[in-house]
Amino acid sequence: MSEAILLVGGKGTRLRPLTLNCAKPMIPTAGVPFLTHQLARLRDAGVTHVVLATSYRAETFSAHFGDGAELGLEIDYVTETEPLGTGGGIRNVADKLRSAPDEPVVIFNGDVLSGHDIAAQVAAHQERGADVTLHLVEVDDPRAFGCVVTDESGRVEAFLEKTPDPPTNRINAGCYVFKRSVIDGIPEGRPVSVERETFPGLLSSGALVLGHVDSAYWLDLGTPAAFVQGSRDLVTGRIASTAVPGPTGEKLVLPGGEVAIDAKVSGGTTVGAGAVVGRGAVVEGSVLLDGAVVEEGAVVRDSVVGAGASIGAGAVLEGVVVGEAARIGARNELLTGVRVWAGAELAEGSVRFSSDAG
Ligand code: GDD
Ligand code: MG
Repeated sequence: MSEAILLVGGKGTRLRPLTLNCAKPMIPTAGVPFLTHQLARLRDAGVTHVVLATSYRAETFSAHFGDGAELGLEIDYVTETEPLGTGGGIRNVADKLRSAPDEPVVIFNGDVLSGHDIAAQVAAHQERGADVTLHLVEVDDPRAFGCVVTDESGRVEAFLEKTPDPPTNRINAGCYVFKRSVIDGIPEGRPVSVERETFPGLLSSGALVLGHVDSAYWLDLGTPAAFVQGSRDLVTGRIASTAVPGPTGEKLVLPGGEVAIDAKVSGGTTVGAGAVVGRGAVVEGSVLLDGAVVEEGAVVRDSVVGAGASIGAGAVLEGVVVGEAARIGARNELLTGVRVWAGAELAEGSVRFSSDAG
């Protein structure tokens, strides 16, 4: 196995406003664009050539990763002029692949943080001569995912994308091994969903589609809460990544980040380059992007503070996303689910959730 395709063309709607100017896989996560962690894992598993299937904000990928040499990879880029969906995106990069028809190609959704053994998945695929082998995980609520039904031998019997009443909690974890020839068989030049069209089509044609269960760490970082969780798990080392630029622990302070002596920064928080945490502030399990400022006595938990944004003195944020350069005035209280748009300004003390706040 030496080749992989990464699907990175989605708009990342659920992560707005962080994805307004930035593709989802390029959002800094534990100090580097999220995709870096996936690329490092693929390289460590023996992949040497990666093709990025891009669409939304395509230019940001090549501008950062170039030819891939810095990561010890060869990276090619293919951009869809109109989004082709997951299956169309895979088909669209076929010209860049070097594998022979029977050889395995690894495919990853670009927002999945997975500690599973990629090489073991490929080995299982090869051993059984499968057409496609899907990494499967078990989740509490499978409704937001592709539900995958297998028989005792691991053969996939049904693939039900985002079904309201899933028959099992085993889901598609977004990492596939495809026989190269199966990629060439996807229809060309039109949108195709690998989940809604390709997998069901392969099953009804009798192709051998296998499920490979591996219960190592797994997370889809597609929502703000999951994004923050993934970032802190990388910083604390709960999921290992050789791409984290520093030792793992309670916090990761990037060069040029500043934390006041009596501030408490913990729970896997990242303090970006040039970001500042003021006196007596508490920042837990959060992501402060470059140049973000948390002023004196503010409390920030499980939140993302965008580049150059500022959180005023005594403000309290829990489970919030603050867009780039937004200004949260002093003593505001923002709770779970709130998203402050890039550049927005909240006047001092204008949002409160309890009457006893200072
Ligand atoms: N190139 C390209 N073109 N990529 C795309 C396109 C497109 O038109 N649309 C989506 N993608 C990429 C996204 O960037 C993302 O990396 C991946 O395809 C999956 O899209 P998501 O939008 O994140 O899908 P999801 O999370 O709702 O569901 C998918 O992932 C789940 C596991 O995390 C499905 O594959 C589910 O079956 C699966 O359970
Ligand atoms: Mg996703």
